Amino acid sequence: MAEFLTANDKRDAYCAELSVADLGKRVCVMGWVQKQRDLGALIFIDLRDRTGIVQLAFDDKTDRKIFDEAFGIRAEYTLCAKGVVRRRGEGAVNKNIPTGEIEIAVDELKVLSASATPPFEIVENSNVNAELRLKYRYLDLRRPDMQRNIIARSRIGKIARDYYAANGFIDIETPNLCKPTPEGARDYLVPSRVHQGKFYALPQSPQLYKQLLMVSGYDRYFQIARCFRDEDLRADRQPEFTQIDTEMSFVTADDVMKMHEGFIKYLFREYFGRELEYDFIRMPYAEAMNRFGSDKPDIRFGFELTDISEDVKNTEFKVFAGTIANGGSVRGINVKGGARFSRKEIDSLTEVAKTYKAKGLAGLKWSDNGDISSSYAKFLTEEENEAVKKTLGAEAGDLLLIVADKNKVVFDALGALRCECAKRMGFLDPMDFKFLWVTEFPLLEYSEEDERFYAMHHPFTAPMDEDLQYLDSDPARVRAKAYDIVLNGTELGGGSVRIHDCEIQSKMFSVLGMSEEEANDKFGYLIEAFKYGVPPHGGLAFGFDRLVTLLLGLEDIRDVIAFPKVQNASELMTKCPSEPDPKGLAELGIAIVAEGE
Ligand code: AMO
Ligand code: AMP
Repeated sequence: MAEFLTANDKRDAYCAELSVADLGKRVCVMGWVQKQRDLGALIFIDLRDRTGIVQLAFDDKTDRKIFDEAFGIRAEYTLCAKGVVRRRGEGAVNKNIPTGEIEIAVDELKVLSASATPPFEIVENSNVNAELRLKYRYLDLRRPDMQRNIIARSRIGKIARDYYAANGFIDIETPNLCKPTPEGARDYLVPSRVHQGKFYALPQSPQLYKQLLMVSGYDRYFQIARCFRDEDLRADRQPEFTQIDTEMSFVTADDVMKMHEGFIKYLFREYFGRELEYDFIRMPYAEAMNRFGSDKPDIRFGFELTDISEDVKNTEFKVFAGTIANGGSVRGINVKGGARFSRKEIDSLTEVAKTYKAKGLAGLKWSDNGDISSSYAKFLTEEENEAVKKTLGAEAGDLLLIVADKNKVVFDALGALRCECAKRMGFLDPMDFKFLWVTEFPLLEYSEEDERFYAMHHPFTAPMDEDLQYLDSDPARVRAKAYDIVLNGTELGGGSVRIHDCEIQSKMFSVLGMSEEEANDKFGYLIEAFKYGVPPHGGLAFGFDRLVTLLLGLEDIRDVIAFPKVQNASELMTKCPSEPDPKGLAELGIAIVAEGE
């Protein structure tokens, strides 16, 4: 039977905040039982709350009734305990925990609730499988490392609010039931009961509302905003996630980047108590692709891409020469020190390359003792081989990895391989934070499949002034006033200066294959608003979950979200999504048809 708290039961200490400074004090603590140890004449209970653990002691001086009660207590029972803080006996001191020198001699005890045996032990760094953790998320969240993550997230959010408020940003909420805000993913739709057959969309981001707030004169907007995107999940993606979302008026891209770089620096000062003593480099997209094969380069290590097409364009080896003749390229990376990889490891790198659609991976391993083994060298002349080695700066101890294909495949495969090699060689210290800006993104991306252009960022991003002239004639070459902030190979945030001119916006819609009518139907309110005096504006959104994940040195975004979804976008604890109540569906005028109908 649960016992109840009365007006006299006031917690006055968190468990792990007690120390020898509190000796002799009578305190009241509340929390969960980590473990109970019964030594016959003595019983010890480790009591845990969100700060950590304190030891409760019961001995021959303890009231018999309380002692007997302590005897029956098991892990995860919830207790209220009162007693005097005293020094632990000789030999019982535990130097590993902050409260290891003290204990509470309990003289009043309430079992606030009992606990069934939990499906896993509530301990740090548990290696319990992910599904079980998520099914019993409320217990998983009781573990000290999860509590640290969730509390850190709250602190980082507070630091963001402080920074942006201090810089004149106004926190404004935008609707969650809205018209679609295209960010390139599928929308989650919400049926309307009042307007049967019509749907709201959940926002993929507050993009258009924040732009309209600029039209309204709020000048600097900020929101920690929930966004919803029905897309395939990965370790750094969730269907519902949080952005630190901002927009500013009367600015250029440089102003926006400076403001947000300022936030990251402030965050490091406040959160880690240290300075990030470098200005973030700004790397044009084309350079990022050429050097790192990625628009979110990890610059903690080298292994940069080098184009060796010139060296092999006339070779007899068809794989290389043929690719170049077809408009592709041959590029390689020099994995310095990579000769230590075994044959088997190099084979597994080939598999990595293939997952990025490479047809093969050509390798050359130059061992420290001078031996060379290579999958491609026998197909090249001696001069060609020498030229390739020279261009890639090869020396004894190195591993050369080469991919021949169309550029996209070469970039994807080598971009992934350089990271994979660095990971295997132990070069990736998650607490080594290397930020950079990637700028000058292409405005548009052509889809071979759909035979049309898509906006690379979103349709409201402004073209660079000097490229505006090509918007009609050669859209593919137009660069955008868009920028991403990248940290250690992850896109942490993205933004742009927006189109603030009706004519350019209309042209953009038409390049995207939208008729005037369609554009009006989808974005008429924006087009209309732009008739009434629009300040030049731009903004950026950080992925808040990603920011917290990386700052804490973690890999899985789910470790910083209290109740995340799994890969197939379901939640294992509540088992949503679930089948709706038929009555509710009828009210919405919706009928579920079987698949294929
Ligand atoms: P973008 O689509 O680049 O820009 O999103 C901004 C940042 O949000 C994070 N993010 C995600 N995090 C977790 N799960 C997801 N599914 C997910 N998708 C995106 C990323 C990304 O960099 N409205 C624009 C911003 C702007 O132009 O101001 C936008 O949403 O870290
Ligand atoms: P093959 O002539 O197909 O046996 O290929 C000879 C070598 O070149 C093998 O090591 C292949 O893995 C490698 N190779 C094949 N296709 C490519 C490619 N597109 N890029 C790089 N190397 C390749």
